[in-house]
Amino acid sequence: MRQIAEPQRLRALCEEQRAQHRRVGLVPTMGFLHEGHLSLVRRARGLADFVVVTIFVNPTQFSPSEDLDRYPNDLIGDLAKLEAVGADCVFVPTRDAIYPAGFSSHVMVEGLTDVLCGASRGPGHFQGVCTVVTKLLNMVGPCSAVFGEKDYQQLRVIQRMAQDLDLPVEVVGAPTVREPDGLALSSRNAYLSPDQRQAATCLYRALQAVRARIERGGGTLSAAEAIGLAREIIEAAPEARIDYVDVRHAHTLEPLETVVVGQTVLALAVFVGRTRLIDNLTL
Ligand code: PAJ
Repeated sequence: MRQIAEPQRLRALCEEQRAQHRRVGLVPTMGFLHEGHLSLVRRARGLADFVVVTIFVNPTQFSPSEDLDRYPNDLIGDLAKLEAVGADCVFVPTRDAIYPAGFSSHVMVEGLTDVLCGASRGPGHFQGVCTVVTKLLNMVGPCSAVFGEKDYQQLRVIQRMAQDLDLPVEVVGAPTVREPDGLALSSRNAYLSPDQRQAATCLYRALQAVRARIERGGGTLSAAEAIGLAREIIEAAPEARIDYVDVRHAHTLEPLETVVVGQTVLALAVFVGRTRLIDNLTL
């Protein structure tokens, strides 16, 4: 596995691969890798001949009140995991390499970014994500780029961006990997105390309760009932504070009055202590 820090070297290596008719795949991450990230690398392995994983804690997608300065990292552990899962190249740039002095361009997707995490984390969040992902796509030139459904809105925003801007890449979504008790794997789970870790299962329990209610009701449920049920379960968990619980159209992210099976996403963001966790379920 090659480890690269300079964008120019990354670009040259990927050009070399494409010249040999090898399909290049990309998995962008912020590191502190877990099985969720590794599942994306395995997916990319199935789609491409040369898989590039990027590790970069992107400062522009964090608001000043967020956890940029304490975001966990373990580069040595990450490299061992990526080697084991068969990544071909890992790109670990410095902040200056991505945002050199004078950097002043941004990519913004409208509409889809006004709601859910866009509303609660502020407009800069998805602008930061879209800008860094565009840069990585331009450096690597992949046929396919894999993103997790765990960050459902991020996946939809990046798919929209690729479509709108004619980016020559297939943006592929991969299912959420969970702990045995249902908690979605996240680098931020490392912040949780043992009690908070226990409380954090409320997100998955809320999603499952809504799913069960829909199944019992023969596929019908109002959005207000779904949100009410999910809220009740989350509010009962110690140290849990709801950021949002929302029912949205799975494709457009527009609000829905009623759950339409096959076209609805139930999305949650919950603070457990100071740690903000997200999860979702397509119904
Ligand atoms: P990060 O949070 O490190 O996540 C990297 C990728 O892993 C994202 O596509 C995310 O959806 C996916 N992922 C995280 N947890 C997962 C899980 N439990 N199961 C499946 N996939 C999971 O998302 C980012 O970084 C950044 O915003 C980034 C896209 C790298 C841009 O900076």
